[in-house]
Amino acid sequence: MKKWFAVIGDPIKHSKSPEMHHFWYEDMGEDAAYVPIHVAPEQLGQAVQSMKLLGTSGWNVTIPHKETIIPYLDELDEQAKKMGAVNTVVRQADGTLKGYNTDGLGFVRSLEEAIGSKQKADRVLVIGAGGAARGIAFALQASGYTNMTVANRTVEKAEAIVSEIGTGDAISLQQAGERLADYDILVQTTSAGLNDAFSMPFPLTNLKADAIVADIVYNPLITPFLAAAQQQGARIVTGVGMFVHQGAIAYEHWLQKTPNTNAMIARLMEQLG
Ligand code: ATR
Repeated sequence: MKKWFAVIGDPIKHSKSPEMHHFWYEDMGEDAAYVPIHVAPEQLGQAVQSMKLLGTSGWNVTIPHKETIIPYLDELDEQAKKMGAVNTVVRQADGTLKGYNTDGLGFVRSLEEAIGSKQKADRVLVIGAGGAARGIAFALQASGYTNMTVANRTVEKAEAIVSEIGTGDAISLQQAGERLADYDILVQTTSAGLNDAFSMPFPLTNLKADAIVADIVYNPLITPFLAAAQQQGARIVTGVGMFVHQGAIAYEHWLQKTPNTNAMIARLMEQLG
């Protein structure tokens, strides 16, 4: 039987994952399909049962199900367990479901593609302390970046992440804004740039001369945060790389092959740019 995969979320219309995976299936000669499925929060249990019944080989999970899917899975990867969130489900040979989280590692791969992997001692500022920030902070720590600060509007949430990871410190957005010159790498994970209500977590001034500034949002490609960083002469890392790499790691879990991330990144940059 032809293999099929999916992404479940609410909303799901704008997901670029089906296009990305189909591009790879074609490129790799894989006879598979990938469908977007709208699943409202109250339908999640039923949806998981249906996916099993219909013989899916695995699926991606997006907002708002990344945490609530966990009780429906049989097994969790170690990193996903620590992060408390799943974005990739694999149906294993015996039919059981295993959850992974490829978002954080996707970010680290994207960052290291841009800057190389020899900068582990760099001082990293993670801005935000929601689900995305948590995944990224765990993956950065697991990849050897231990010099980490988490800044958030609600400082308690930043403190919770830092204490779970066991390294780094937690500060307010205002403190982060005052100490920007201390950091080599800035990672913007809040909804700034998506929401008209606020466009920047804090003014971006006094950056370190050779700072690297990353955003996890990829549409718009250049967020207000990245635009301000560029104006300051910083090197920027857009959210496209993280999106493509999280998808590629999911692909590896499902099909044990590595798809072409560069071609996909170029294609999306062209679409979004
Ligand atoms: P995600 O899963 O995408 O990370 P989330 O868990 O809702 O989404 O987290 C959103 C992040 O954006 C949080 O860090 C949030 O700050 P709080 O923890 O203080 O709520 C941040 N955020 C959202 N709106 C913000 C605003 N107007 N100003 C500053 N930070 C904001």
